[in-house]
Amino acid sequence: MSVTMDAKTFEDLRLFIYQKSGIFFEKSKEYLLTNRLKKRLDALNMSTFEEYLRYIKSASGQKEMTNLFDAITINETYFFRHIKQIEAIKDAIVDELLKNKRSINIWSAACSSGEEPYTIVIALMEKYGQNIPARILGSDISKEILDKAKEGVYGEYALKELNSNMKRKYFDTIAPGKYKIKDFVKRKCIFKNINLMEERSLRSVGKMDLILCRNVLIYFDSKSRQKVIDTFYNNILNPNGYLMLGATESISRLNTKFKLCHFKMAIAYQK
Ligand SMILES: C[S@@+](CC[C@H](N)C(=O)[O-])C[C@H]1O[C@@H](n2cnc3c(N)ncnc32)[C@H](O)[C@@H]1O
Repeated sequence: MSVTMDAKTFEDLRLFIYQKSGIFFEKSKEYLLTNRLKKRLDALNMSTFEEYLRYIKSASGQKEMTNLFDAITINETYFFRHIKQIEAIKDAIVDELLKNKRSINIWSAACSSGEEPYTIVIALMEKYGQNIPARILGSDISKEILDKAKEGVYGEYALKELNSNMKRKYFDTIAPGKYKIKDFVKRKCIFKNINLMEERSLRSVGKMDLILCRNVLIYFDSKSRQKVIDTFYNNILNPNGYLMLGATESISRLNTKFKLCHFKMAIAYQK
């Protein structure tokens, strides 16, 4: 029997999800939400979305939040996504940040399965060798996707931007088309479960010199975007620190004190 969601339940569910995660489901994405949550209904042996909504709002439903986040997030990513941005980090931003300190803190704030933080490690290793002058934190709201990041096993799609030399250098082939990130890269990253909309969870991040927040705020509405950007600026970035968003994203419509900086075919925002 196919389960459907009525208009009121969709409104209530999307409001609940928005308040907890910042992710906003447009009316046109109703089918997506329905499809993704059907799996949770099956797993919990529930027959209606109303029942599911009541459950996640209840005290005993708190443990379901992890599964809800795993189900609704879009985790598309790959190594060296938007190479020009990675080059700007490697060739300009890191040099500038290292003028005043010996080591910097870099945060991949919605790292999905780890390709982005590992890319930063690899790019810096190409420049500095294995002893890179940076500590890398990768975080995500989805625990399931973070387990994948910690495992560090990828298919061909994730490595599509890498030539065979780079694949050999940084990955072990463990089966045809399956690659495991080498330990010397993995050791440079730590991973944490952090919800960008939750202040308590953000407090554990500490101070950062560079934040990558690529391809996640596109799922937020402007109010949540503003909140996240303000937190980066006021509580997390060190003076002169940088924020990099996705290649097609901009904060020009938001109210911020960030300074726009241009690099070769990439932009970033400086505190
Ligand atoms: C499309 S991926 C982007 C991955 C990587 N940054 C990139 O650009 O390739 C978006 C990620 O944002 C995460 N995400 C969504 N809402 C979040 C939130 N409120 N806090 C932290 N991460 C969130 C999702 O779980 C997903 O892994």
